[in-house]
Amino acid sequence: MKNLHNPVMLNEVISFIPKNRSINVVDATFGGGGYSKAILNNFKVSQLLSIDRDPISKIFSQELTSNFKNFTFINDKFSNLDKIINESNFKEKKYDVILYDLGTSSNQIDYAERGFSFNLDGPLDMGMGGNNKKAFEVINNYNEKNLANIIFNYGEERFSRSIAKEIVKNRKIKLISSTLELSKIILQSIPNKKLNKKKIHPATKTFQALRIYVNDEIDELKTSLNKTIRLLKSEGLILIVSFQSLEDRIVKDFFNHNSGKRWRSSRHYPELPEKMATHLKIITKKPILPSDSEIKINPRSRSAKLRVAQKIQ
Ligand SMILES: C[S@@+](CC[C@H](N)C(=O)[O-])C[C@H]1O[C@@H](n2cnc3c(N)ncnc32)[C@H](O)[C@@H]1O
Repeated sequence: MKNLHNPVMLNEVISFIPKNRSINVVDATFGGGGYSKAILNNFKVSQLLSIDRDPISKIFSQELTSNFKNFTFINDKFSNLDKIINESNFKEKKYDVILYDLGTSSNQIDYAERGFSFNLDGPLDMGMGGNNKKAFEVINNYNEKNLANIIFNYGEERFSRSIAKEIVKNRKIKLISSTLELSKIILQSIPNKKLNKKKIHPATKTFQALRIYVNDEIDELKTSLNKTIRLLKSEGLILIVSFQSLEDRIVKDFFNHNSGKRWRSSRHYPELPEKMATHLKIITKKPILPSDSEIKINPRSRSAKLRVAQKIQ
């Protein structure tokens, strides 16, 4: 199997990694191993723990496992970060760098049989690994209101209701079983004059919503981030590359709340206490974005945002 994933903002990520001293690193989203490989080859790594929920990442990790004694790959979800470390036989269980590169890899999107792509014909799956539902069940079993809520909440799709309505209408005639069938139904649900104005493919947001829901991505991220502070050494860094606004909001809230700010990304969120514990210092006041030249070579990088924070106590 060929690794199709080009690591995004690799130079920017690498520029934050401490040089000239021995470091312990977690790569919480190994994917095709682009970040892990660069770190092992260019830094003094005493231990690199890589995690990915997708079993195909195990295949891509084999080369590093045979070449580097200081490298370990675990096929699990990053919400289990603390458990993975506690159950390991690592001598040291605190880290200088914890790294997340969120979302999907090209190894998931570009293999049609995984069902992530609205451009390639595949089964309605979208599981990244360790998920307990598939897109097929959601599309064919959930009631219209539930479907509309999922598409709106996780895709921020303004046509969520008409898309849900069209899905329910179509599945009464025949179960919807492929990505292209679903893609066609989404196209039919959006008024023609709005379709022409769309900058992205009309199915983008609905597919994003289904993927996030099927893989429970929001809870995964919140649970994992909350565990990082205890696992970082003093002055340890947390680096996060996100690709859509829901993820980025969670990252921003997590950084802000742990650096003593009472700022909330939405006024609908509960008020925060007057005095909050300060564990982190935000290093990137504004997110770092990919360069124009990277976007040209790798258009998938265009929505990436890198945020970095440092543990202060
Ligand atoms: C953008 S890719 C990472 C690419 C990687 N940095 C590289 O250079 O090849 C994101 C990866 O995160 C994994 N992932 C997403 N959510 C996860 C979770 N909750 N736990 C573990 N891995 C996850 C996906 O399976 C995917 O392989």
